[in-house]
Amino acid sequence: MRSLLFLAGLVCLSGPVFGQAGKFPPDSLVNVKVIPKNTPVMQVVGMMRNFAGALGVRCPFCHVGQEGQPLSSFDFAKDDKRTKLTARQMMRMVEEINRRLDTLPEHAQMTSHVEVTCQTCHRGVSRPMPLEQLIMETAQGSGVDSATRDYRALRERYYGRAAYDFGEPTLDVAAFRLARAGKYDESFAILKLNEEQFPGSSNAATFRGNINLMKGDTTAAIAAFREAVQRDSTNGEAQGRLRALTGGARGGPTRP
Ligand code: HEC
Ligand code: HEC
Repeated sequence: MRSLLFLAGLVCLSGPVFGQAGKFPPDSLVNVKVIPKNTPVMQVVGMMRNFAGALGVRCPFCHVGQEGQPLSSFDFAKDDKRTKLTARQMMRMVEEINRRLDTLPEHAQMTSHVEVTCQTCHRGVSRPMPLEQLIMETAQGSGVDSATRDYRALRERYYGRAAYDFGEPTLDVAAFRLARAGKYDESFAILKLNEEQFPGSSNAATFRGNINLMKGDTTAAIAAFREAVQRDSTNGEAQGRLRALTGGARGGPTRP
């Protein structure tokens, strides 16, 4: 309980929404199974705001009620939604994690502690799937055009937040996994999308070479590794591949 209550303390509760209709906030807790029943209702509401913020959702994501309607019309005690049941399990999981953290060596003597919260994993999204997995699964399930659209839309919405990693390796990893699954067209399309985000990247050309190798297209692989070395003469991986593929002579500077 400690970590959840700690969270609730951080939230500023104010605004005209509360207490207007006389039913929200409720006078007491009805159907709580993780939160102690005697917890002040406003503290619970603060905790709930943190849940919603951490998952990037609003109250009706977990509770029975209409978006845009007054909170007094919601039935917060009902357990009808899968997401609420999942959230309850997540609350128990977070408690367990923090109990485990308390047992770390020399933990008690440390001057500061990092508590795990919903935000630690969720970072503003309800299903905290790594971006490379999301792109790979979308490319396989709905096609690479969908995956490309999704990537652009997510970048538009979340760039600069902790939700997704828009750094260069993400799409490289997605492309590599697609190639491993034999989806070469999809893989090259995702690599192209990455090169659009990171023009002139030597690393991207290396990936293109490696995926051509997996595909068995040695000519294209050699061209890609040459491009990689052109872009960055210190790219050791591309140099090594070129040496192996061309017998050494034209693979770039040879080491003494
Ligand atoms: C991610 C899911 C989730 C979101 C979003 C969420 N809640 Fe909850 N809420 C829960 C869970 C789970 C419980 C039950 C906790 C327990 O069993 O101890 C709960 C319980 C409550 C209760 C106590 C109900 C009772 O039984 O008396 C209130 C009031 C409440 N939530 C209000 C809100 C409000 C207001 C919002 C929006 C700011 C909100 N919740 C957003 C999951 C959520
Ligand atoms: C250790 C990491 C972690 C923490 C901490 C965590 N979650 Fe989750 N949560 C996940 C993962 C991973 C999933 C997705 C599981 C899946 O769909 O395969 C998930 C899924 C969910 C879902 C279902 C979302 C959906 O769209 O299906 C809810 C609701 C949820 N979490 C609520 C919470 C709440 C509330 C907290 C804090 C009390 C919390 N989680 C803390 C990892 C975490």
